[in-house]
Amino acid sequence: MLKISGIGKTFFPGTVNERRALDGLNLEMKEGDFVTVIGSNGAGKSTLLNAVSGRLFVDTGTVAIDGVVVNRMSEHKRARYVGRVFQDPLAGTAPNLSIEENLSLALLRGKPRGLGLSLSTKRREEFREQLTTLELGLEDRLTAKVGLLSGGQRQALSLLMAGFTNPKIMLLDEHTAALDPQRAELVTTLTQKIVDQGGLTTLMVTHNMEQAIRLGNRLIMMHEGRIVYEADQATKKKLTVRDLLKEFATIKGATLSDKALLG
Ligand SMILES: Nc1ncnc2c1ncn2[C@@H]1O[C@H](COP(=O)(O)OP(=O)(O)OP(=O)(O)O)[C@@H](O)[C@H]1O
Ligand SMILES: [Mg+2]
Repeated sequence: MLKISGIGKTFFPGTVNERRALDGLNLEMKEGDFVTVIGSNGAGKSTLLNAVSGRLFVDTGTVAIDGVVVNRMSEHKRARYVGRVFQDPLAGTAPNLSIEENLSLALLRGKPRGLGLSLSTKRREEFREQLTTLELGLEDRLTAKVGLLSGGQRQALSLLMAGFTNPKIMLLDEHTAALDPQRAELVTTLTQKIVDQGGLTTLMVTHNMEQAIRLGNRLIMMHEGRIVYEADQATKKKLTVRDLLKEFATIKGATLSDKALLG
């Protein structure tokens, strides 16, 4: 479903601010794979997701979604295949539109313009049903402005919207990080549910190692723009936070001694 081959991305090349965010990264995901992504700040996790969503174009390598190389396809065009939820609860929804208008927009994503936001009774009923599954009472507030919702409610809505059109790839970038522990837990549970229901191929970035181990069927650790550790389903089942911390330490130690060796 997703095949990433040797992608590289350097920001501000040839300047003092040069940053190699992706460094020949390879990743292949089968349909229904749910990969959690961990790694320290600046490891290139968000850049990887941006390369898949089309927010940025890679310098080298290829990104293929369901067999189609999308390197030169705009973010707008890719939106048909890619669902996305960001860390910022404000990023995924339009605050001045109502819940039902936001849901309609999500349905129209990637479709030709001019279909309009008109809502049939049937459509409203469908929205109500889907909102009921969130168990946040939003089904009774279809016409409320989304700007009035709490962060957790908005993230839950974003998640529902991202999964709406059965995307080929679902991208989640620390989407529970801005929430209080209880809401984070709720959105985490919801994530698994929406992914399972749709059998969605999912890439989820998180700094929460317990969550990274618990969710999904594969786990990868990124460092300096590459995948430096990978756990398959069987390994992940036995994995502990301690194991991951050890991996982190080894990788950090290795780069430090490499640098020392290089003088
Ligand atoms: N648009 C950009 N312009 C310039 N540099 C960028 C841009 N986006 C990312 N970078 C740089 O690329 C590197 C990787 O950044 P990225 O945001 O992918 O890291 P991350 O793993 O998501 O980190 P975090 O855990 O802090 O979110 C960093 O050094 C960052 O400063
Ligand atoms: Mg990031």
